[in-house]
Amino acid sequence: MATPVSGLVDPDRGYVNPAIYADQAIYEQELELVFGRSWLFLAHGSQLPNRGDFVQTYMGEDPVLVVRQRDGSVKAFLNQCRHRGMRICRSDEGTSKTFTCTYHGWAYDLEGNLINVPLEDRAYRNEIDKSKWGALKVPRVAEYKGFYFGTWSEEAPEFEEYLGDMAYYFDAVVGRWDNGLEFVGGTSKWVIDCNWKFASEQFASDIYHAQSSHASALMALVDNPAYWAGISYQSQTPGRQFGGNGHGAGSFWSEALGGPDPTYGTGDYAAWVAANKDEVFRNVGEDRALRVAGHNTIFPNFSWLGSPATMRVWHPRGPGQIEVWAWTYVPKDAPEEVKADIRLGTQRTFSPAGSFETDDGENWTEIQQVLRGWKARHNTFNAQMGLGHEERDVHGQPGETNDAFSETAARGFYRRWADLMSGLSWSEIAELDAERQATATAVPQEVREV
Ligand code: FES
Ligand code: FE
Repeated sequence: MATPVSGLVDPDRGYVNPAIYADQAIYEQELELVFGRSWLFLAHGSQLPNRGDFVQTYMGEDPVLVVRQRDGSVKAFLNQCRHRGMRICRSDEGTSKTFTCTYHGWAYDLEGNLINVPLEDRAYRNEIDKSKWGALKVPRVAEYKGFYFGTWSEEAPEFEEYLGDMAYYFDAVVGRWDNGLEFVGGTSKWVIDCNWKFASEQFASDIYHAQSSHASALMALVDNPAYWAGISYQSQTPGRQFGGNGHGAGSFWSEALGGPDPTYGTGDYAAWVAANKDEVFRNVGEDRALRVAGHNTIFPNFSWLGSPATMRVWHPRGPGQIEVWAWTYVPKDAPEEVKADIRLGTQRTFSPAGSFETDDGENWTEIQQVLRGWKARHNTFNAQMGLGHEERDVHGQPGETNDAFSETAARGFYRRWADLMSGLSWSEIAELDAERQATATAVPQEVREV
């Protein structure tokens, strides 16, 4: 049983101890208790269209190979040779029939089974049982609407149960189009010197930063200054935030189908979405199509934005660093010029050189530098926005909700983090969640119509 983490975060009162962002021992526990037991994003099916296609990714800091099998399924295994631990495959992606370790030449099949050992007769007297020395397999891989997630935990709930009410929000993006989504333009990868929770929590919960942090980027990108006049359009637009099972989502309500602000790209995407709105309404309903897109995180570290169209994983690299892996997603059936427009939009905004991305990274890097101080690490942060005003199932949006300007989802994120870090089993967490739900306030939908 791991050391309980009570006192580090108190979601019921909105307290966060900043040691959780900087302490090496806490980080080591996270690798085991959070990343070792949660469902983690592995790949999108469009990255693995054919048999033998593979991508290398990470589960926490563990390198894994995700491979399209001969039968069309997707499996994953630890990218570590069982001889002396070299990476079995050193390519980031590709297509293969087998994987051969470059150190001494042990070879593995697409499932990670050991199939060949050089000089097996002379060096091992044919006494090695190859069936016992395959790569460590990721025991559970789940496919959800073309997205593959994996977990090392045999005990974690099924993926859809883990997703819980977040499915409503995930579907709003991944279920909009008849033929689904695809990732285009490869994977953008870069390093930010900050703790992974700053990024995950912000995408789960924090729209509050946009009006300050992104003020100049917004002004630079938007053609019509009146659009952002006053504090910002956001402060005058209704919106909601969702938190549940550690996940988070937030949106403002628009008439633009959650599609990108036309100024992000050339406008081709916005026009195409408007022309195809019936398909979106049929798939996810008009209300959800117009009111759910925004910023999102599936706990612990898979995030996306509805606009611009970016998805990403915040791979942890020690307590003070992350490696961001980001993709542009597009409707698979969209014309090429529309896909190009979406890519232009993400490149201008949320990419390594994107104007919003650099704003965000600057904040997180700065916070991390401050946390080098001893006093700074023994302080208390405030996560109380909207505390005591949480509601449930408002406006037909399931789960715990609050105004878009809220930290409901942040508190939910840290609640799930603390549950896992305390060493509670998944069944104990389920019992706790049931108690929490029973005591939450249900607000009749008609009372909260905006
Ligand atoms: Fe892979 Fe030796 S480490 S064959
Ligand atoms: Fe931001």
